[in-house]
Formats: sequence, structure tokens, C-alpha cells
Amino acid sequence: MTRLAGKTALITGAARGIGLAFAKAYVAEGARVAIADIDVQRAKEAAEEIGAAALAVEMDVTRQSSIDNAVDRTIEHFGPIDILINNAAIFTAAPITEIERDDYDRVFAINVAGALFTTQAVARHMIEHGTKGRIINMASQAGRRGEPLVAVYCASKAAIISLTQSAGLNLISHGINVNAIAPGVVDGEHWDGVDAFFAKHEGKPPGQKKREVAAAVPYGRMGRAEDLTGMAVFLASDEAKYIVAQTYNVDGGNWMS
Ligand SMILES: NC(=O)c1ccc[n+]([C@@H]2O[C@H](COP(=O)([O-])OP(=O)(O)OC[C@H]3O[C@@H](n4cnc5c(N)ncnc54)[C@H](O)[C@@H]3O)[C@@H](O)[C@H]2O)c1
Repeated sequence: MTRLAGKTALITGAARGIGLAFAKAYVAEGARVAIADIDVQRAKEAAEEIGAAALAVEMDVTRQSSIDNAVDRTIEHFGPIDILINNAAIFTAAPITEIERDDYDRVFAINVAGALFTTQAVARHMIEHGTKGRIINMASQAGRRGEPLVAVYCASKAAIISLTQSAGLNLISHGINVNAIAPGVVDGEHWDGVDAFFAKHEGKPPGQKKREVAAAVPYGRMGRAEDLTGMAVFLASDEAKYIVAQTYNVDGGNWMS
């Protein structure tokens, strides 16, 4: 199928995991994709694997000059940007009494400010160019409710749901739809890190937390990055044009709201 034929997408944090699965799915639907990541080496490997429809772009979403360069580089190479996915994020976990201010600052700089100022740069470009674009933010079930050891990451993802609402309401007046996807637990390198945090703070053997969360998913297993691509393609497609400022759970039944 080619539901995104002729479209150009910029996906942050796309060198691996969910962002990379999105990049592959978008290319399969006819789009060209900038794989923007702070890990430029892996972004290059990913782009080479995908082929000419993919471009590796070095991008640190915490630095404005890097955001601007990544947007410019994508436009130079592919032309105007139609779709942005704010996917780059990091995880952290600690009891409230042990949260370190530097850790909080880093998580909010990447997960929240990174998404906001990348949205701003791309939205300015879309408005200037008259593009009826799409912006998709990566929220999380962690943004739907708190967790005892995950205050900072949960708050960052709640902020993404809120930003999606405000940006969605603001930018639809320019014909730009902003929506979000809230995954549940998706296996991969991100969750290897989450498992290691719980091993440290809850004294669980490695792999134990993963087994517990997998057993709790109503669908019967952890998610795979590929389980999310259908929603990412749909939200970028013409079929989703009347959807504004929403966050969709794609989590095997973990959360209902
Ligand atoms: N994996 C899950 O279970 C899960 C669940 C809910 C939500 N999510 C969200 O989905 C998104 C993707 O998750 P994932 O599992 O693929 O994560 P991941 O850790 O595998 O990938 C994140 C990518 O972001 C990049 N990155 C980190 N800091 C960056 C920066 N400053 N600038 C640019 N890129 C940067 C990393 O290099 C990496 O390639 C994230 O927003 C995450 O919070 C994931």
C-alpha cells in the first residue's frame, strides 16, 4: 500500500526501536524518511539498511541549533516536511527521595522540551510552506497514571499528552493535526534499560520485571515495535484528517481512557 506516497517525514530517535519501525513502515507506504538521532552512527546504519528513501540526520533534540539543522537538512534533501514524529525520549526511575535534579532536567529536556521545540520548528516550516501537516507525539501509558518509582518519566509523558492537546488545538487552525500514541510495554533496548532500573531499585533478578509486565498485559505478551506502526501510519494518512489533539492507547489492553 502507498498511503503516504510522496510524503516526507522527520522521525526523532529513529535509529532503533519504535522510531526505526516507524521509519520502515513509512517507507513501505511510499514516504521518504529522515532518521534523526543523537546516535548518528546507528542512524546511518538504519538509513543504509532502508535505502534511498531514508536519510540519516544527526540531531540532539535538547539543542536548538541541532533541531534547526536537522529540519534544514531534511528539507534540503527531500523537500518540505509533511510529517513529524516526536519519538526521542529517555527513561529514568528512582524513589522520590532519591531523584536527582540533573536526572530530572535531562529527562524533561529530551522528552518534553525536545518535543515542544521540534514541533515549533517544524510547525513554523509547515505554516510558511502552506503544508497541511501531521505531528505525532510519543506519549506512554506512563503518562496516564503515576508509578511509585517512575515519577519523572511518568510526569514527562503526562506533559506530552497535555502538549498534544494544546498544540493540537492551536495548530489545527493552520491545517496541522497533532495527535499522540500511548504505547504500553514494548520489548527492545528501551525495556532492557527499564528492567535494569527495576533490578536495581526492587532487587529483582534481571529479566524478572519484563516477565511480570508481559504477564499483566491483557493481550498476553509485551508489545513489539511493529504493533504500533499501524496507528502511526493511520494518524499520518488522509483517513485521520478529522482527528485532532488526541492520544491513542496502543497497549494490548493495559489502559482504558
Ligand atoms: N518501549 C516502550 O515500552 C515504550 C512504552 C511507552 C512509550 N514509549 C516511547 O516510545 C518512544 C520510543 O521508544 P523506544 O522503546 O524505541 O526507545 P529507545 O530507547 O529504543 O529509542 C530512543 C531513541 O532516542 C534517541 N535519543 C535519545 N536522546 C536523544 C536526543 N537528545 N536527541 C535525539 N535522539 C535521542 C536514542 O539514541 C534512541 O535511538 C519513546 O518516546 C518512549 O518514551 C516506549
